Amino acid sequence: MGVGGSLEKVSWGVCVWDCIGPEPAPGPQGAAAAAPGLILVGVGPGDPDLLTVAAVRAIRSATVVAYPVARLEAAGMAATIAAPWIGPQQRRLPLVFPMVAEAQPRQLAWRAAADALAAEVVAGETVVLLCEGDVSLFATASYGLLALEQRHPACPITLIPGITAVAAAAAAGRWPLALQQESLLIRPTPEAAAALEALLDQAAASNQVLALLKLGQRWPWVRQVLADRGLLDGALFAQRVGWPDQLVAPAAAVAPGEQPYFSLLLVRQGWPEVLP
Ligand SMILES: C[S@@+](CC[C@H](N)C(=O)[O-])C[C@H]1O[C@@H](n2cnc3c(N)ncnc32)[C@H](O)[C@@H]1O
Repeated sequence: MGVGGSLEKVSWGVCVWDCIGPEPAPGPQGAAAAAPGLILVGVGPGDPDLLTVAAVRAIRSATVVAYPVARLEAAGMAATIAAPWIGPQQRRLPLVFPMVAEAQPRQLAWRAAADALAAEVVAGETVVLLCEGDVSLFATASYGLLALEQRHPACPITLIPGITAVAAAAAAGRWPLALQQESLLIRPTPEAAAALEALLDQAAASNQVLALLKLGQRWPWVRQVLADRGLLDGALFAQRVGWPDQLVAPAAAVAPGEQPYFSLLLVRQGWPEVLP
């Protein structure tokens, strides 16, 4: 368990709180879990043990558990991660967010999701919207938040942060993200090799560590750029962090073919002078 005990994974139905000791008094975010309204909850990435205590508490007190799906019949990544913490008595509310480039279908989906969530809250439900990783970093939950604030400004909303895949990857790879005067830039992988070259130049000049998301299909040419600059050994490749098939390895060990969407890259081009 990630919440303090030495227990192996338990299936739902076993009394989890009995296993991990007495329930602590809730802090501000835990307290919000008991109030009616909407809570945006970061889960994972991947591993259900990576949820915060506040996240578990919020999910357990919800009457409705909402989660993003690409298609109505799909399981939903955030819901799969949080599954051990969701009980059979809780109503599930899949919200379709199509994975398309066009603006209009995405905007319609964000607005429809906001309306559906607000309607549940008006009906007196305590609703959680699950979100993979952190709720504020390239997150579906952020679009829900913006649409709700615009369309239903009276809807009470609380956010519970989650562990971003960048932090989970760094921990899995034992890879310090930033030290001393370094900065950390988290951004999508550039669309073309020339843009990545420029980004690497700028990062090297400004003592910046890069965390590149949405790497998957760009990996073949990204790998070549890193190889040409001698950066492959020091970069960390992380795929499906927290899932049973997680791959976290030096970038040099990863073949040049396309990789899944849930892949990222950490690139460091130097170290501070003073180190242990
Ligand atoms: C839309 S962003 C979601 C970020 C998420 N909110 C977070 O805090 O990590 C999706 C990108 O995050 C990265 N990502 C998310 N989950 C991941 C995982 N489990 N393993 C590796 N990369 C992941 C991938 O680069 C993916 O393309």
